[in-house]
Amino acid sequence: MNLRNFFIGLSENKIMNALAKKYGLKLGAQSVVAGTNVEEMIESVKQLNAKGISCTIDSLGEFVSEKESAIQAKNEILEVIEAIHTHHVDAHISLKPTQLGQDIDKQFCLENLREIVRKADQYGIFVNFDMEDYNHLHSAFQLIDRLSQDYTNIGTVIQSYFYEAQDYIEKYKDYRLRLVKGAYKESEDVAYQDKEEIDQNLISLIEYHLKHGKFTSIATHDHRIINHVKNFTAKYNIPKEKFEFQMLYGFRNDLQLRLTNEGYNFCTYVPFGTDWYGYFMRRLAERPQNIQLVAKQVFNK
Ligand code: FDA
Repeated sequence: MNLRNFFIGLSENKIMNALAKKYGLKLGAQSVVAGTNVEEMIESVKQLNAKGISCTIDSLGEFVSEKESAIQAKNEILEVIEAIHTHHVDAHISLKPTQLGQDIDKQFCLENLREIVRKADQYGIFVNFDMEDYNHLHSAFQLIDRLSQDYTNIGTVIQSYFYEAQDYIEKYKDYRLRLVKGAYKESEDVAYQDKEEIDQNLISLIEYHLKHGKFTSIATHDHRIINHVKNFTAKYNIPKEKFEFQMLYGFRNDLQLRLTNEGYNFCTYVPFGTDWYGYFMRRLAERPQNIQLVAKQVFNK
């Protein structure tokens, strides 16, 4: 088993997830998770805003199997929307449909999502639907289609490792889209396995959406892709208002600031809450060097 599969396996471990919730931010997660409650998260958002960086806020949680947990997740996200409004911070919402009951009952999930999107809409706040694994992909797009009949303040993510990504980017070109490589373990029946192919597909999706689509969020820590986007947008005169770069909270902070100071729109993905374990393990799976973050936190104590 390679390291990526090892950490993805850990990310899905229910016992570890439950223990992590109980014992708070551990293992160095505090450097990549902006606290366990709304107050701590808003403080981090204000600090990023002060540097000219906007934020997308993820109230952590995923793959819930009980209605009670989904309702709790919904209430927490409603609280975040209220906090964005009250504190006048430059931020929007990121959420995961499995956090709101996608695996329990589709209609129930739809109603939870509707409540969130409606409240966000009242305050002029955008809601991004994060995309999860392939098993949830098609029904997540169906949920988005249903909500799009009534609301325009929603967008989603296209993952370049999927063979179907090009079809989706064409179908959703009129949406504000976040373009990423993809973070879950997928089979070769549905997804590219080779890094070069995934990177190349991401570049082609980015170019397509920058040219033909609505607002593009380029979400990567990969400086080669970022440099490509800088050159491409300069060459084709694509205005900076049409796109932004996104990175995760706590990663490549120097580069986040540099891009902001160069005049690019920049948005940091700010996860917070007690349900940090699966998110954190996926970050280790993506880049085992992230273990250095863990080591620093543990040994600095
Ligand atoms: P990748 O990990 O492929 O690294 C490429 C190269 O970049 C490395 O070899 C190194 O040179 C450099 N690099 C990367 N990280 C570095 C670091 N910390 N320090 C120094 N150099 C570094 N996925 C998903 O499936 N659904 C989703 O909804 C989202 N949402 C999302 C939002 C945001 C804001 C981001 C940034 C990412 C996601 N992702 C996601 C995760 C995404 O799919 C992907 O798994 C990770 O971003 C890792 O891929 P990268 O493109 O960042 O670089």
